[in-house]
Amino acid sequence: MVARFDVVTIFPEFFSVLDVSLLGKAGQAGTLEFGIHDLREWASGRHRSVDDTPYGGGAGMVMRADVWGRALDDVIAAQPSPCVVAVPTPAGEPLTQRRVAELAQREGRIVVACGRYEGIDRRVIDHYAQRDDVDVWEFSLGDYVLNGGEVAALALIEAVGRLVTGVVGNPASLVEESHSGAGLLEYPAYTRPPSWRGLDVPGVLREGNHAKVDRWRRDAALAISAARRPDVLSRLLADLDRDDRAALARAGVVVDGDELSRLVVRPAHPDEAEAVSELAIRLFPDACPPEITPDQIARHVAHELSPAVLRAAIDSEVVTLAEVEGRLIGYAYLAAPPAPYVGDSVTLDHGSPTTVAYLSKLYVDPTSRGGGVAVALLEAALREGCQRWGLTHVLLGTNTGNRRARTFYRRTGFRKKATRTYDVGGVLNRDVVLVRDLTAHPVQPDLTGWGAAWNNDSGTSSPRDLPQGERTGE
Ligand code: 6GU
Repeated sequence: MVARFDVVTIFPEFFSVLDVSLLGKAGQAGTLEFGIHDLREWASGRHRSVDDTPYGGGAGMVMRADVWGRALDDVIAAQPSPCVVAVPTPAGEPLTQRRVAELAQREGRIVVACGRYEGIDRRVIDHYAQRDDVDVWEFSLGDYVLNGGEVAALALIEAVGRLVTGVVGNPASLVEESHSGAGLLEYPAYTRPPSWRGLDVPGVLREGNHAKVDRWRRDAALAISAARRPDVLSRLLADLDRDDRAALARAGVVVDGDELSRLVVRPAHPDEAEAVSELAIRLFPDACPPEITPDQIARHVAHELSPAVLRAAIDSEVVTLAEVEGRLIGYAYLAAPPAPYVGDSVTLDHGSPTTVAYLSKLYVDPTSRGGGVAVALLEAALREGCQRWGLTHVLLGTNTGNRRARTFYRRTGFRKKATRTYDVGGVLNRDVVLVRDLTAHPVQPDLTGWGAAWNNDSGTSSPRDLPQGERTGE
């Protein structure tokens, strides 16, 4: 592992902070060694000048190759260990945790050459790059300009130094952090007090269910990464499972192959009744068992899914849409309480009064399935229903033979309560009636609003984005 950092700079005072904190302790303990060198010691003349005007003209000054050459020759030769010469420059390669970890693993030391002004004469880099005993690496902290390399040198030393064994007391704290491990940005952290200025610590973190805590943290990390760093997220798409994709959909992002798209989940507007009817009629047949004829389906949808019916639903109940790039890809229709069958074939021994809504429809375009859209649609519709009606339960019926729907509802907290027959165009279908107890399986929180990288115009303000779902209910 790296054991020593040498810095060549015209501002050695900058590096007095290396005496402080964990790196300071590591320096005193000998876990790390620091050598800070004043470039001017290798300058000559009365003024000990280290820079000169640029060939070709232009503003600013360039640091001289001869001064840097003498300095680096001496600093490199003073220690027998192999070395990397790291050169901070806004034109460098981005400093990443991957590169930091790689540097920490190397034997020997890192010599940081801090430039000022318009940079160092190019021949210095070219010369040391030719030497077999030296690796030269130009790095940048990010897309902005600092006055010189000193702050970047400190960033490099701290990032690499903390990975050296013995520098950070609890190595576990190195594992679960942004840009390491899972590669996602880090989930948010909370400590006492549990309530502060009207803001509460999320309930799951206080309940002691470790599996739920892990899931909550991963969902939060996914949502934060999706919102702030889609570039980071898109490198991990192959590693995401169904639960991850559902969390992303709830955060307003769908994975489509190796691409990310913005998913908007929102209430339907009354003017959209026609478009929603079209979507509903297009998706309906996919949920029907094969023995139902197109004719029977046509008769059913003309009656049940007409623009007038949907307009009435939009006006007085919950109709939630999923949209990707302006295209409607799914919808949910949650009918106002009371739900059918309750107190009849379905009994809910809940202890106190119940308010049950009926999930009449939850459909996602077949080409958009598997991305968590259905979960996002369902949770958004239920969130709205809970807000409006104070729901304790939600009930639905789905065709007995629709395995995909039944698996989906099982996974989202629904349990079988009864069976029913359901009329599609005169044919009676066998359905199961499923109920989700929202006190035991509460609505999942909205995960939009962690950042604005995806849409700077509406980003954080609207909790109304819905994902697409699978076709499920009848
Ligand atoms: Cl490494 N150096 C300077 N001068 N500016 C920077 C930087 C480095 N990284 C970002 N901006």
